[in-house]
Amino acid sequence: MPKLIIDEIAVEVAEGISVLEAAQSVGIPIPHFCWHPALGKAGACRVCAVKMLDGPVKGVQMSCMLQAQDGMVVSTTDPEAVAMRRQVIEWLMLNHPHDCPVCDEGGECQLQDFTIAGGHSLRRYTGKKRTYVNQYLGPFIEHEMNRCIQCYRCVRFYQQFAGGTDFGVMGSADRIYFGRAEDGQLQSPFSGNLVDLCPTGVFTDKTARFRARYWDYDMASSICPHCSLGCNTFPAARYRELLKIIGRQNDAVNGWFICDRGRFTNQAVNDPERPRSPQVDGAKRQWDEAIDSLLLRIGEIGDSWGPGSLAVVGSGRLSLEALSLLHRLSKSMTAGSLCYFVKEEEAQRNEIAVSYLNESTSASMADVQKADLIVIIGCSLLDEGPMMAFAVRQAWRNGARIFLIAPDSMAGEQKDLPFTWTGVTSFAEISFEGMKRPVVICGSGGTGSVEISSAVEYGAKLAFLFSGPNDFAAATLSRHHGTTSLTRKLADKKIKGIIAVESDIPAGFFDGIECVAALDWRNTDAVKAAHIVLPTTAWVEMDGIYVNNEGRAQRFNKVMTPGLPIKGLDPSLHPPRHHTAIVPGGDSRPAWRVIADIITGLGAEGPVEPLGGRWQRLRQLEAEGGGLAIFAEGFAEDGRKD
Ligand code: FES
Repeated sequence: MPKLIIDEIAVEVAEGISVLEAAQSVGIPIPHFCWHPALGKAGACRVCAVKMLDGPVKGVQMSCMLQAQDGMVVSTTDPEAVAMRRQVIEWLMLNHPHDCPVCDEGGECQLQDFTIAGGHSLRRYTGKKRTYVNQYLGPFIEHEMNRCIQCYRCVRFYQQFAGGTDFGVMGSADRIYFGRAEDGQLQSPFSGNLVDLCPTGVFTDKTARFRARYWDYDMASSICPHCSLGCNTFPAARYRELLKIIGRQNDAVNGWFICDRGRFTNQAVNDPERPRSPQVDGAKRQWDEAIDSLLLRIGEIGDSWGPGSLAVVGSGRLSLEALSLLHRLSKSMTAGSLCYFVKEEEAQRNEIAVSYLNESTSASMADVQKADLIVIIGCSLLDEGPMMAFAVRQAWRNGARIFLIAPDSMAGEQKDLPFTWTGVTSFAEISFEGMKRPVVICGSGGTGSVEISSAVEYGAKLAFLFSGPNDFAAATLSRHHGTTSLTRKLADKKIKGIIAVESDIPAGFFDGIECVAALDWRNTDAVKAAHIVLPTTAWVEMDGIYVNNEGRAQRFNKVMTPGLPIKGLDPSLHPPRHHTAIVPGGDSRPAWRVIADIITGLGAEGPVEPLGGRWQRLRQLEAEGGGLAIFAEGFAEDGRKD
């Protein structure tokens, strides 16, 4: 553990870390562009200069390139170091546009921050600035090469970390160009990370350009709902419109990065046509009226058809708060019958998966990155969990051997996977001998328990991919309550009513059903078929918890108020002609709140609160931090060790 002194502060750091990181560890910021915590050093920008006053190295040095060593005495404020940094900024600004007030990156630009911090306010150079022709990089990412300071973060990430081959660095000397050989959409499913990584705005989110400054955004810590991996995000909204998603660091889950699906799939939240007010038989109603109508029909079905005739169907799209109340809702009705999944195969597979996962068998994406052997079964990684493919690539870069079992039978394009793999027909062909950190990844293509059991016997950790962000919790509850799927329930022809709670039930399932009620924020087939619609809030419009594929409960916080986005709003609705407490289209409620209201209407005594019983501990869970592990047999004692 080297001991050094930085700006007269004694610092002791782990072996192998740089002087820049050592300074950061005690709260001393050093400007940097090419160094990034996830990408490491490149020594390209020269802005992290410090003066080494004493010890094994002397003089002005690049702090990102220098390993912290015993006896070093470092100054970040020495006039020589300050002058060097100031000069580097001035050089970088020779060609960079001086247009911060009108630049779309302004306010979230590292170059702007360090230029101002370094005191560069007067342009002395009078020559012409170097200019480039920008490229069309697809509908999501804007290219503005004039802003480039050649830090190489983009190309290091795109090629080394993401495995992309259609983007690179071209040219030489002072005509370096970062782009594609020709115009066209970036092919990597992780291309959106260029937006977060670029320190100067060469790559910006085209979908949110010129819509707001950084300080205008409504932002909160959140969790991506577009697969089961639980990547951490910062959604950014303004004027009731979800504008963009930014990756949020969580080293145990997604590291610093997210996939393009998670970043650019905002349309459903902003859809003006999504369910936004309660409806009964196609007519808008007040909440009380709609809930009364539902209670009436619940009673009618119970009276006419008896126990088990009304299916309450949840899904892994629901927050844990809502999932934890579904059983009580079903039990509150004489006719109630509970399902957490629509399809039988999905229900069975998910329940088997959670039965295998515990503190010692469950693999996080951080575990996958450290694995020395990875076996992938029945899964299209890029469809079911792109960031898992990203994690496998990092393991492969570190030398892990990757096997795909029966790759020809898997869905999706295995040739697009960003790593090299060997196809085998069965587990028996893979030798686990000598492997220290093997991981088996199972997708929705399913796998036999025999293979999973033998993988665990070999000491392998397991990573299952589910389809919804909370499938793990839904499957855990389904096992606990001994429920079955809607498909199975419909097979005995007893079901006469369905309450679909954020459940994607296909249209054909409603044939012959007397009453359909849908609680949802998406325009699903259930909403279209419903006699009663109760609009719920999207994940960015409420607080809640998702349990990811490894059994990690993580909180997401409310980002924005529900309502019709002001942009594109019907002019008769804005500015408001009628002053009400609810904004136009803002009459939706969290699903758990609606479920609690129905349970109360059915005669529950006292307040109905989510996360009771075994879930109570999660009420205190914070959005920041590593989350909390939950498994079938209860909570792990101290949460995740990582
Ligand atoms: Fe050290 Fe760029 S951050 S050279």
